[in-house]
Amino acid sequence: MTLEFALTRSDRPAADDVRASVLAEPGFGRHFTDHMVSIDWTLDGGWHDARVEPYGPLQMDPASAVLHYGQEIFEGMKAYRRADGSVWTFRPDQNAQRMQRSAERLALPQLPEEDFVEAVRQLVAIDEAWVPTGGEDSLYLRPFMIANEVFLGVRAAQTVRFMVIASPAGPYFPGGVKPVSIWLSREYNRAGRGGTGAAKCGGNYAASLLPTQQAVQHGCAQVLFLNEEGTDLEELGGMNVVLVKADGTLVTPASESILDGVTRNSLLQLAADAGHEVEQRTVTLAEWRDGVADGSITEAFACGTAAVLTPIAALKSHDEVIGDEHAPAGPVATALRKQLTDIQYGRVEDPHGWMVQLTEAQASGAESAEAR
Ligand code: COI
Repeated sequence: MTLEFALTRSDRPAADDVRASVLAEPGFGRHFTDHMVSIDWTLDGGWHDARVEPYGPLQMDPASAVLHYGQEIFEGMKAYRRADGSVWTFRPDQNAQRMQRSAERLALPQLPEEDFVEAVRQLVAIDEAWVPTGGEDSLYLRPFMIANEVFLGVRAAQTVRFMVIASPAGPYFPGGVKPVSIWLSREYNRAGRGGTGAAKCGGNYAASLLPTQQAVQHGCAQVLFLNEEGTDLEELGGMNVVLVKADGTLVTPASESILDGVTRNSLLQLAADAGHEVEQRTVTLAEWRDGVADGSITEAFACGTAAVLTPIAALKSHDEVIGDEHAPAGPVATALRKQLTDIQYGRVEDPHGWMVQLTEAQASGAESAEAR
């Protein structure tokens, strides 16, 4: 049975001018909407108490398991406003299913797909005014699940909360969609065999922070992790990596310890639709190095919900630079990015039925979009 959501409206929503100034320059992950969704779970009672309530701090016992053992998972999604004012999201079933897989790995309960999608729908419906209308801005949606049982024993928690919060978002990288340089971490791995690499859990991102600081110190936007042997590409701190060969083939790592990226999978599908060969296989660092040197690898890009598709100009490490830090975005990355964002914003046909409508068109929608 699907859950019913109780609604408590905020009695202190942001004033129109405050919201407008946030939407004029949202940045990434700094501003939040007026409401949030919570659903509780207990071992005995299952999922219950689904609710939309005013956004605000959680009251948490200091002995809550998540604060000690990191039993937490999350997702990243976006809501996009179209020219007619309607709001849509992209492949929410994929995020729901991935969260179920993450839950399994982190010994958390699985939220049914329809409840996950309904939670997102409810939040976007009530905070619809927070969905930006400009350019490539969107409302970033962050579903997450925490172990909130008050217990310091190391075992799977028996009380858990699922939540969704929303944050208006511009480009993830401060430079917008300009190509970025990536730092190759030689000292640190993101995940190992049998670890949690394929799960979207906070711990994976915590482990990427020190290497990411090193990346930033070297003028790079993200860090690239290799496998334990230091030979094969895995993924970046918070996104997948794809190489493009001169013959148009797209190559991306297949590994049990990387995230199954929804954006990556979608871009690979669009590339295949456009006639590109697509290879998901082991990709060695040597292949990237040699391919750039002999011209057989012509582009590289990072992809994820937050970053969409961001070209990689160069891969840097202590002893080498692969690529050219000043290289412009390549044609394949540029075309794929446009194709994907055109689908997401409803500017072209959606050949795979990926978009899910969350709110209705507005009479003034097209006008206000044109007025921008
Ligand atoms: C996303 O792309 O949505 C993520 O979850 C990655 C995070 C680094 C923002």
